[in-house]
Amino acid sequence: MAVDANATSAQGEFTVTTLKVNGSERTITASIDTPLLYVLRNELNVMGVKFGCGLAQCGACSVLLDGEEVRSCITPVAAAEGKDVTTVDGLPARWAQQKGLSPEQAADKLHPVQEAWVAEQVPQCGICQFGMMIKVTELLEKNPSPSDGDIKEALTNSGPSPHLCRCASYAAILEGAHRAARIMAGKDA
Ligand code: FES
Ligand code: FES
Repeated sequence: MAVDANATSAQGEFTVTTLKVNGSERTITASIDTPLLYVLRNELNVMGVKFGCGLAQCGACSVLLDGEEVRSCITPVAAAEGKDVTTVDGLPARWAQQKGLSPEQAADKLHPVQEAWVAEQVPQCGICQFGMMIKVTELLEKNPSPSDGDIKEALTNSGPSPHLCRCASYAAILEGAHRAARIMAGKDA
């Protein structure tokens, strides 16, 4: 949406904001209280983030903000300025950077969490899974060898609500998280 940077909306002033999304600087014009989710999907065409509840109650919209999971449906875009925003689309590049891979080495690589999700055939309908992968990535960056309890704790009690899966793929998510940890540790193909 093209908007005059000096215009004023009913909700507040429109401002020009620069965001770093999946490693790229993106400039957008939006009201400062616009949810980050809407900016990512509607302005920047970043589709690896889903709208579930819009109330921080499901986790489908989760992204990493400087490595911390946030619910983008209730995060005002102003809170993301100057921070690294990572969606599931940016996980391969994040992993490549963390491992110091060259662009050639990284070209066909998925992030270990994505690799594990494919290997374990975790998704069913898929709507919750981008948020699940973001949450598990956050966990594994802090705790590379989590127990079942650590994974369950991260997915249920460490945010504003549990990460919900209406397809009940929780057992597969647990297996996916363990496999991702093994891949990260170089113990699983
Ligand atoms: S859409 Fe954000 S938590 Fe459900
Ligand atoms: S896979 Fe369908 S909601 Fe989780």
